[in-house]
Amino acid sequence: MLTIDSLSAGYGALTILQGVSMRVEAGEAVAVVGPNGAGKTTLVRALCGLIPATGGRLAKDGTDLGATPATQRPARGLAVVLEGRHLFGELTVRENLVLAERHGLGTRKDHRRFSLDEVMALFPILDERRRQRVQLLSGGQQQMVAIGRALLLQPDLLIMDEPSTGLAPKVFKDIQVVFDTLRSRRVGLLLIEQNVRIAAAATERAYVMAMGRVIDELHGVDWQQAVGSDRLARAYLGGHSEARSTPIPERRAVA
Ligand SMILES: Nc1ncnc2c1ncn2[C@@H]1O[C@H](COP(=O)(O)OP(=O)(O)OP(=O)(O)O)[C@@H](O)[C@H]1O
Ligand SMILES: [Mg+2]
Repeated sequence: MLTIDSLSAGYGALTILQGVSMRVEAGEAVAVVGPNGAGKTTLVRALCGLIPATGGRLAKDGTDLGATPATQRPARGLAVVLEGRHLFGELTVRENLVLAERHGLGTRKDHRRFSLDEVMALFPILDERRRQRVQLLSGGQQQMVAIGRALLLQPDLLIMDEPSTGLAPKVFKDIQVVFDTLRSRRVGLLLIEQNVRIAAAATERAYVMAMGRVIDELHGVDWQQAVGSDRLARAYLGGHSEARSTPIPERRAVA
């Protein structure tokens, strides 16, 4: 359903992603993990069309996305919860959600899986605060609005960039309910998450990124028991040979 084939992308002359390939099948939950600066958010930006691909191919359900602008990717079933959330702060919770619902109804009539009432039921605090302006909510509550809005776009693949960041463990439990709901409705998930424990609980397999490349792929038991594994530690510490284009010189003692 989502095919990323040798994707390159970056910022101006700076290439960050170098030949990234991944696949997410229909209804599958897949994680992307890796250290700070690995290129995870850059990948999300390229997937949702905020930055152009400079090489390779992106396809959804067999259709090339290269020529699809960011505003039209939700109509192809791709919704994203970005780092920083990007909500309309001046509008209320309900207004933010209704805007997404209308967009979803306009572009994804035949794929409708989530209603406004269901989203409110998923996050009861949003129902209580529905008349409050979003900019007055806490970070965790804004994150719930961002997720609710993404669901109302009626995706068949939801991409989430670090949804656990800054959230209290209790709030994160609410998001885990979302993961379960996605699974039961066969909505695919591409979860960018540095916390391997959280990522492994929510997904079936994972790509490990470092230095703008995919350096490993973990399935089954290897992935479920990845917390603390040497394989992953090497990626996080930058010791993977393929991940480095320029070797770091060894430290020498200063005489
Ligand atoms: N707008 C930008 N302009 C130029 N370079 C950028 C920009 N955004 C990110 N970068 C660079 O791209 C590289 C990858 O950053 P990216 O944000 O994709 O990493 P990440 O894996 O999401 O990291 P984190 O775990 O910290 O969120 C970094 O070296 C970063 O400095
Ligand atoms: Mg990031």
